Amino acid sequence: MLKGKNIILGVTGSIAAYKTAGLASMLVKQGCNVHVIMTENATNFINPITFESLTGNKCLVDTFDRNFQYQVEHVSIAKLADVVMIAPASANVIAKLAHGMADDMLSTTVLACKCKKIIAPAMNTNMYENPIVQDNIRICQSYGMEVITPAVGYLACGDVGGRQDAGTGDSF
Ligand SMILES: Cc1cc2nc3c(=O)[nH]c(=O)nc-3n(C[C@H](O)[C@H](O)[C@H](O)COP(=O)(O)O)c2cc1C
Repeated sequence: MLKGKNIILGVTGSIAAYKTAGLASMLVKQGCNVHVIMTENATNFINPITFESLTGNKCLVDTFDRNFQYQVEHVSIAKLADVVMIAPASANVIAKLAHGMADDMLSTTVLACKCKKIIAPAMNTNMYENPIVQDNIRICQSYGMEVITPAVGYLACGDVGGRQDAGTGDSF
């Protein structure tokens, strides 16, 4: 079912970013062509080289990077995509997606994508339960984005958080 699909995998500045390496690897094994786009802050948590090694594609971080064959990268990759998945999705990126901001490679590309979009919020429980974050999640849903509810798990701050009925995991 996933064979031959072009997937944009967005990675943001969350402690859960390391888990996306496993997800990228799994998608490649399923026959997907995976393009990873990281926020600058995500590179503090995991190195782009990890994703380049796993996917065989350049990991995009900088909208103004000139080191590729000439095409407007965020537009060409957006046209190509069958699905965009942002996992983990930080509170910051969810706010950007909810309000149409396009100030980095990930948010700019997502705005240019017409395909299905899936977001997996991952953050501290107090952040997740903040009405502003909940409103932003609802706005994303109202624009047709699918939201994967966080599982219960250990958080970077040492707390345990998440929905009790949503399975287990660490941060997302
Ligand atoms: C150790 C550490 C863990 C963090 N984990 C999260 C997280 O799980 N979710 C989140 O929304 N922000 C988290 N943050 C804060 C974000 O990195 C910060 O809001 C950042 O501006 C997000 O940038 P981005 O959305 O451009 O990736 C964490 C910060 C630190 C230092």
